[in-house]
Amino acid sequence: MRAMVCGTWGGPEQLTLTNVPEPVPKPDEVKIDVHACSVNFADLLMIGGTYQTRPELPFVPGLEAAGTIASAPDGSGLKPGDRVVAILWHGGYAEQAVASVQETFLLPAEVSFDVAAALTSAYVSTALALNRVAHLKPSEVLLVLGASGGVGLAAVQLGKALGAKVIAVASTPDKRLIAREAGADRVFSSAETDWKDQVLAAAGPSGVSVCFDPVGGPLFDPALSTLGWGGRYVLVGFAAGQIPSIPAHRLLVKHRAVLGSSLRYFRYHDPAALRETMDQLFAWYAQGRITPRITLRLPLEETAEGLRTLAERRAIGKVVVHVREDQDTPSRAGG
Ligand SMILES: NC(=O)c1ccc[n+]([C@@H]2O[C@H](COP(=O)([O-])OP(=O)(O)OC[C@H]3O[C@@H](n4cnc5c(N)ncnc54)[C@H](OP(=O)(O)O)[C@@H]3O)[C@@H](O)[C@H]2O)c1
Repeated sequence: MRAMVCGTWGGPEQLTLTNVPEPVPKPDEVKIDVHACSVNFADLLMIGGTYQTRPELPFVPGLEAAGTIASAPDGSGLKPGDRVVAILWHGGYAEQAVASVQETFLLPAEVSFDVAAALTSAYVSTALALNRVAHLKPSEVLLVLGASGGVGLAAVQLGKALGAKVIAVASTPDKRLIAREAGADRVFSSAETDWKDQVLAAAGPSGVSVCFDPVGGPLFDPALSTLGWGGRYVLVGFAAGQIPSIPAHRLLVKHRAVLGSSLRYFRYHDPAALRETMDQLFAWYAQGRITPRITLRLPLEETAEGLRTLAERRAIGKVVVHVREDQDTPSRAGG
């Protein structure tokens, strides 16, 4: 089968389209004929050898697989031909992938393969962070940093779906426009030195209730200052590269909490939350309450270009790799 293979630690350019043997599923795994896999920032960390875990070289990156079941174990409730999406440790940029039955989800008829790929890692991680880590409540104020990125735009849409007032921060006018179109109530430029004051003014006297931060770096410090009494700061990632430090008194003085949120936690410790969240995402998609914004679709052999758009900070919304070109045409399609 054809796959994008990472043979040495490095950037997107070292991925090579290679013919490799088909993966062999374990007894509790399905094999999927992959149609689509979205591009995630974690792919860059993984191929660079700087992710939390290092797969053994060579390996195929790609954190989800949307497609059809090729084989499934008896009793799994899945059968060949079923349309599914699965969360993977890696392996999505290939014509076939294996996934645990537990992390494979049947697709409703209206969810296309590329929407499923765009919804999965980014939206499920974000929904878990907002619902189960930050416990965002309706009418609270949510500040989203990096608001046009994969998880950032998901946070804007999910924040609105959860009834919050959403303040979005992004670096360029086109990124801010897309955050606004996704439902953000207010948008501000992280390139302006006084963006913190603009956020504070927009948040009102109680300040920001929850900050969703996939960026870190220079945004962390001012964003922490916008949190009001009892505010929760959810660390999701450090796309800017620099990992911030927290002077502890800044938590004490306003009874603030800084929380880490990792999809891996739920994969290991709370698979029921994962399944409930996927069901909720599918339902909200069907109702039109969330719509992944897919701005670039690429064939498998151009996966490296997709990864470069994230590395060079050019990506907006989601980039999706079409592993097979015969995409289906359900009744709702992502924009
Ligand atoms: N914890 C979890 O479960 C989980 C799940 C998914 C993703 N993540 C993490 O979340 C982060 C974002 O992932 P993503 O897939 O949404 O990435 P993405 O689509 O590339 O978005 C990242 C955003 O970060 C901002 N940014 C600031 N400095 C950057 C730089 N030097 N290079 C690239 N982007 C920069 C950009 O917004 P501006 O230009 O507007 O600043 C960009 O839109 C990553 O660290 C990823 O590992 C964590």
